[in-house]
Amino acid sequence: MVARSSELACGEVKPIQYFGQELVLFRTAQGKAQVFDAYCPHLGAHLGHGGRVVGEQIQCPFHQWEYDCSGKCVSVPYATKIPPGARLRAWPVDEQNGMILVWHHEQQAEPSWRVPAIDLGEDGGWTPMVETRWKILTCIQDVNENDLDSAHLRCLHQFTSKTPEEMDLAPRDAVLDIHFTLVSNLESFGMSGNAKGPLDTTKFGLGIGWVRYAAEIEGAGISLGTRTLGATTPIDDQYVDVRLFHQIKKTQYDHVTEMLEKQYHKTFKETVDQDIRIWENKRHLLRPNLCQEDGPIAAYRRWARQFYSEEEMERALAR
Ligand code: FES
Ligand SMILES: [Fe+2]
Repeated sequence: MVARSSELACGEVKPIQYFGQELVLFRTAQGKAQVFDAYCPHLGAHLGHGGRVVGEQIQCPFHQWEYDCSGKCVSVPYATKIPPGARLRAWPVDEQNGMILVWHHEQQAEPSWRVPAIDLGEDGGWTPMVETRWKILTCIQDVNENDLDSAHLRCLHQFTSKTPEEMDLAPRDAVLDIHFTLVSNLESFGMSGNAKGPLDTTKFGLGIGWVRYAAEIEGAGISLGTRTLGATTPIDDQYVDVRLFHQIKKTQYDHVTEMLEKQYHKTFKETVDQDIRIWENKRHLLRPNLCQEDGPIAAYRRWARQFYSEEEMERALAR
């Protein structure tokens, strides 16, 4: 995910940095979101700094060369012949669930799957999505594994979780479903007792996660529902951009909803901060020593391998 759809109006141009590259993000007059390599092949100006959308094209600020949606230069205002090599790389872009998504492939192969549409609960039964965002010194794999690591839910975050009850492992498929029963201690909500219920996580590739928790608060007759849409995108080989959008299900009492919402955001942020302290100081082990009770980390890694280049994976394992 390189931006939320709402962050990019028609005609808007923005410089962005992801995948260790300088890129330009823009939306054409007709509303198509586009991502190109940033540097103009003429004399190297950065299109994200002063570039302009002209209809369905983007114009470089330096000498006004224009590029169409495929990245090909189609206009040089003062030249009779356009140099044939004047072309920018256009990254495959998709827009789904209010997110602008970019396809990254080591060998620049075309997209082989899409993130499907999910129900974001825009029916009024849920509070509006609130965003929390972090730039974290870690790798995308460690952020993803966090959801699968059932032991750390207990040991680091003080949740009482079970190992997953179900995990749909479809090794050739980009979608993965994991179901836990999660018991969370409600002390941080200013209540005694526990909330217990299913925690359902769906992963779409390495970048996007959709986490739903539906719990009953013991003895209170209140049900707690939370949903989080998460996007993790590599900025370069050191940092990732983590953007989490969360909401809670409205209860029948407004003041209870408000209190739960406030506490949920606080707890949520504290939980991620605990993870960040680990992530920013750990190293990723390709050969960890896992025990039986570590949950499905090994199975998850087998699934996740499909998103890495075979050559790179073999090189890393041979080291
Ligand atoms: S550098 Fe872009 S048009 Fe000259
Ligand atoms: Fe965690």
